[in-house]
Amino acid sequence: MLLYLHVGLYMLIFCSVSTSLPSPYDVKMVAVDLNYTLWWAWRGTHLNHPVNFTADYALWRDDGSYKLVCKGSGQLWCDFTNKLNFRGTYQIRVRAEDKNLHSNWTYLRFTPDEDVLLGPPSRVDIRVHRDIIILIISESIMSSKMVLKYHVLYWEQLKPEQKMLKVFENCHASLTALKLWTEYCVQVSLYSQDYNTGSNFTSPQCVSTTGQYLAWQIGLAVLCGILVLVVLAAMMFLRFRRKVGEYKPPDSILGLPFDHPPLLEAQEMSCEVACVTAPSPHLVPDTTAELQSGCSQWSGGSEQDSGIGSGEESC
Ligand SMILES: *[C@@H]1O[C@H](CO)[C@@H](O)[C@H](O)[C@H]1NC(C)=O
Ligand SMILES: *[C@@H]1O[C@H](CO)[C@@H](O)[C@H](O)[C@H]1NC(C)=O
Ligand SMILES: *[C@@H]1O[C@H](CO)[C@@H](O)[C@H](O)[C@H]1NC(C)=O
Ligand SMILES: *[C@@H]1O[C@H](CO)[C@@H](O)[C@H](O)[C@H]1NC(C)=O
Repeated sequence: MLLYLHVGLYMLIFCSVSTSLPSPYDVKMVAVDLNYTLWWAWRGTHLNHPVNFTADYALWRDDGSYKLVCKGSGQLWCDFTNKLNFRGTYQIRVRAEDKNLHSNWTYLRFTPDEDVLLGPPSRVDIRVHRDIIILIISESIMSSKMVLKYHVLYWEQLKPEQKMLKVFENCHASLTALKLWTEYCVQVSLYSQDYNTGSNFTSPQCVSTTGQYLAWQIGLAVLCGILVLVVLAAMMFLRFRRKVGEYKPPDSILGLPFDHPPLLEAQEMSCEVACVTAPSPHLVPDTTAELQSGCSQWSGGSEQDSGIGSGEESC
């Protein structure tokens, strides 16, 4: 009884050890520009812990010299970037590992310059000059490996069904003879004739053309001119008011500077004239007194006069 159990256990252990792991499948190299990433799938759900994978490569038909890229990685991908020569042909392999078990290798033949995909330009800068749209397209790392052309798809934003395509050899692309004051959208892709491969298009970027903006430029200039004049006038007005404020009426006429009040002199002279004529001996004392008091009021007025303005008033 015990013996049977032992044999059974032994058989079980033997079976589980001898059953090698399933191999990775759906192995593919995703090569975008010079970025090479190996991806695979693995069916191993019967294990309740994660397995690991090892991936390496050798030159095609050179089995002896595999070079390790990922050892015991827990992921379902491995980055081969910067390992492979663009013009080479390689055999890539990957297997699953779990402690002292491992699967068979799964092989893949990979030739970068045949299997490469072009990535879209990473950046497209747009400039507008009236009815011309100028695109400055970022250079692809692949332009050192192949001759690239730039496919520019463009359309009026309101007419997306009428798309136009232009091919440029240069990363500075100009779209000319567009409609004025119209919003256009552009997308750019790269294309290699030698490799007969193209990139995806960049996502649409929209921009509006301008037009004969001479008219509104003049308008703006005139407006600016008027604004400047208004500001200048306002400043001058404020300064003038401040100056008037600086010349505070003096408390006493004696406080006035000498060179200042010809006007006052005239007033005083006129007062004096009034004073001289007033105290005539032929007049009745009452009237004299009246006149004198009026004059003294006058002169007193001038004395108490607090400035040019009020002097004028009292005279
Ligand atoms: C591994 O490879 C050997 C020999 O090529 C084969 O007999 C075996 O069935 C393979 N194992 C698995 C799990 O595919
Ligand atoms: C390559 O691409 C993968 C996935 O897009 C990314 O995770 C990785 O960082 C890239 N490698 C390099 C060296 O840029
Ligand atoms: C296997 O992968 C796991 C992650 O999934 C990691 O923690 C572990 O260290 C790896 N084992 C080895 C031997 O690299
Ligand atoms: C191109 O676009 C498709 C669909 O959006 C995407 O699956 C693919 O990865 C893109 N190719 C590149 C090289 O970016």
